[in-house]
Amino acid sequence: MSDSNQSKRETFSNRRAFMFAAIGSAVGLGNIWRFPYVTYDNGGGAFIVPYLIALLTAGIPLLFLDYAIGHRYRGSPPLAFRRLNRALEPFGWWNVLANVIICIYYAVIIGWAASYTYYSLVGAWGADPQAFFFKDYLHMADGVSVGFDFVAKVLGPLIGVWIFTFLILALGVQKGVARSSSFFMPLLVVMFLIMVAIALTLPGAAKGLDALFTPDWSKLSNPSVWVAAYGQIFFSLSICFGIMVTYSSYLKPKSDLTGTGLVVGFANSSFEVLAGIGVFAALGFMATAAGKEVSEVASSGIGLAFIAFPTIINQAPFGSLIGVLFFGSLVFAGITSMISIVEVIIAAVQDKLRLGRVAATFAVCLPMGIVSALLFGTTTGLPVLDVMDKFVNTYGIVAAGFLYVLVLVATKKLPVLRQHINAISSFKVGTLWYVFVCTTVAMLGYMLFNDTKTLLAENYEGYPDWFLDTFGWGMSLGLIVLALLLSLLPWRMENKFNPDEAHKSDETRKGEQS
Ligand code: ALA
Repeated sequence: MSDSNQSKRETFSNRRAFMFAAIGSAVGLGNIWRFPYVTYDNGGGAFIVPYLIALLTAGIPLLFLDYAIGHRYRGSPPLAFRRLNRALEPFGWWNVLANVIICIYYAVIIGWAASYTYYSLVGAWGADPQAFFFKDYLHMADGVSVGFDFVAKVLGPLIGVWIFTFLILALGVQKGVARSSSFFMPLLVVMFLIMVAIALTLPGAAKGLDALFTPDWSKLSNPSVWVAAYGQIFFSLSICFGIMVTYSSYLKPKSDLTGTGLVVGFANSSFEVLAGIGVFAALGFMATAAGKEVSEVASSGIGLAFIAFPTIINQAPFGSLIGVLFFGSLVFAGITSMISIVEVIIAAVQDKLRLGRVAATFAVCLPMGIVSALLFGTTTGLPVLDVMDKFVNTYGIVAAGFLYVLVLVATKKLPVLRQHINAISSFKVGTLWYVFVCTTVAMLGYMLFNDTKTLLAENYEGYPDWFLDTFGWGMSLGLIVLALLLSLLPWRMENKFNPDEAHKSDETRKGEQS
């Protein structure tokens, strides 16, 4: 691709715009429904130690790495990785394909949350939120099955999420991605703060906070607690997903990569802690109202959002308001992450096929939306979502992250990236950055080994072999083969890309980023 084509690449108008987009991507469902329970389950207050270590020694260093690659090689993951090292291109395609899978099910969760925002006002779930969610809302079949009967109540909001995603992304990087995040993120923080303030006034809130924060130091000697901390940081910061590579490719030539990375990293963690406080205050109330221990009601993910919270909403004063704030927050946190996930695919399609923004957005959103509707707007739903999430979003990301960082280290690419970071950033990185990146490779390797052992030893969640072989192992293998095949396709207009020359010419043209 020639430099003249590169100069046409869209950009964020300023650092603030990029920051909102990056925080919008990082703050997602993982912050609200994953972090609180992971913390509770892994030592409570003591979890702060592995969590902070994981943030400082793996999360932020890898965030810098992702930023450096995207910014220096200015492309979607396949193109940026290819320019960095031809052997890395399959990892870029793997990132794209992983995002294809993730957005297919992420959209339906946002759709559920949108429905539940409304249901909070009318108390649609009645006295038994669990039965309502699985039977009346999802129409879930008993056992594991694949069925293509559409469920209108699920399909409608799901289509709405895809149309909204399309409209935002069709507007482009600055007008769509940055503007929507700049609007939704402050709104999310305000709504969530109000929700937390109400939750803290509920009877039993202190009991919930005690359960969350009381440290169990003995847990720190358990390796699985450290694995959980690293897993949370990786998922939550959206690193090794290709998302940050894509977003940073839209930064102007002179951009403070590390200063921005630090703000994004700490903003994301602050929101996680806030979510922990809100969620556990509410769970403390739920436990107190039922005369139970917090351990008996604590949960994460779908169980927390769609079963525990409706129960809380049924019983709490201002229940409907709590519901609208909680589910509305899930929608806003989710949609800005969803936008970043789909943007990776659009950027790759644009780079590869030289399509315009609207055409590429349409070419991505239409088929993705159809597959999403077929799989998750129907009675197939939940088990497929669960297996895809496990194999792509937790296991797959760790596997790809491990291999790609290992190749970067082995091919001695870190020095050039460090030089790039330090030439433009306020906070300089030194030898310690190399050390942290290398220790992260070791940690990822350990996590991969552990996960593989567990997945091979026992069927994940007891699902039948055929089901895991199709939607778990089969899909994972399919993604790898497809990523390799895609990396064999020739690039149109790929001239020699010289990052230094490209940056120099753009700098003269556009001046410094504010
Ligand atoms: N980082 C996003 C989340 O936490 C994907 O949900």
